[in-house]
Amino acid sequence: MSNVQFTIQGLKAQIEGKDILKGVDIEIKGGEIHAIMGPNGTGKSTLASAIMGHPAYEVTAGSITLNGEDVLEMEVDERARAGLFLAMQYPSEIAGVTNADFLRSAINARRGEGNEISLIKFIRQMEASMKSLAMDPQFMHRYLNEGFSGGEKKRNEILQMAMLDPKICILDEIDSGLDIDALKIVADGVNDMRSEERGFLIITHYQRLLNYITPDFVHVMMQGRIVRSGGPELAQRLENEGYEWLKEELGIEDETVGQESEEFQVPMNTTAPKY
Ligand SMILES: Nc1ncnc2c1ncn2[C@@H]1O[C@H](COP(=O)(O)OP(=O)(O)OP(=O)(O)O)[C@@H](O)[C@H]1O
Ligand SMILES: [Mg+2]
Repeated sequence: MSNVQFTIQGLKAQIEGKDILKGVDIEIKGGEIHAIMGPNGTGKSTLASAIMGHPAYEVTAGSITLNGEDVLEMEVDERARAGLFLAMQYPSEIAGVTNADFLRSAINARRGEGNEISLIKFIRQMEASMKSLAMDPQFMHRYLNEGFSGGEKKRNEILQMAMLDPKICILDEIDSGLDIDALKIVADGVNDMRSEERGFLIITHYQRLLNYITPDFVHVMMQGRIVRSGGPELAQRLENEGYEWLKEELGIEDETVGQESEEFQVPMNTTAPKY
């Protein structure tokens, strides 16, 4: 039995008064990997930001719970402490804060006062994690993401994930900008962390990532909601045929959230048995 249960129900969110998420339902249990695919501008990153509590996004309806606890009631740092982690599509650069300082503070914030990790233990862990991600040791003391190449930033996000030991890992286009070798290293990092104690939500445009990380469920997002769910074969079909067939089936012309369109109802089945 898994100890992790992450549930999103009827989530709606807006930015500057504009509706972006229009009712998202998703349920992730420990051990499961869910992939979210979908064309540009359909709300995927917004979903990730809303889950993490990004202040720009106002949740107007629905609920998010992690093991029964109300995530929407939590501050951003509380969400991280509760075990939510987001590897961002565009990681920010922080000048003046080294990678090691940042990670140690993040780990200690999670562990709480009086229970801080010892410096020696931290360094050993960081060195081991960096080694398994084939990262040059110099990245320990570089300022966070400053001057990192696109691929180095992505690898660094996985380093943070490995060290923070989250319960729900959200990876937003972790594969973008990675060369083939780095893609495999990142996928190995994710696969190594796969356990009953952890669930994954992986946003990607490409099947090639899913060749290395086999998802249990694949969801497609359009117009700010999940319009189709299936197994890995759904990603394969999108790779082969694109999104046109699905838009036709759904009767939508423009899949982005920006377009006002007639409300459409889609059958949802995100809790189907494993494929
Ligand atoms: N901070 C913001 N201010 C204004 N509009 C925003 C903001 N964040 C998101 N949006 C709009 O919301 C829509 C959905 O954006 P989102 O980033 O969630 O798309 P996405 O599905 O992640 O796309 P992509 O595949 O290109 O990353 C877009 O039209 C975007 O311009
Ligand atoms: Mg995005």
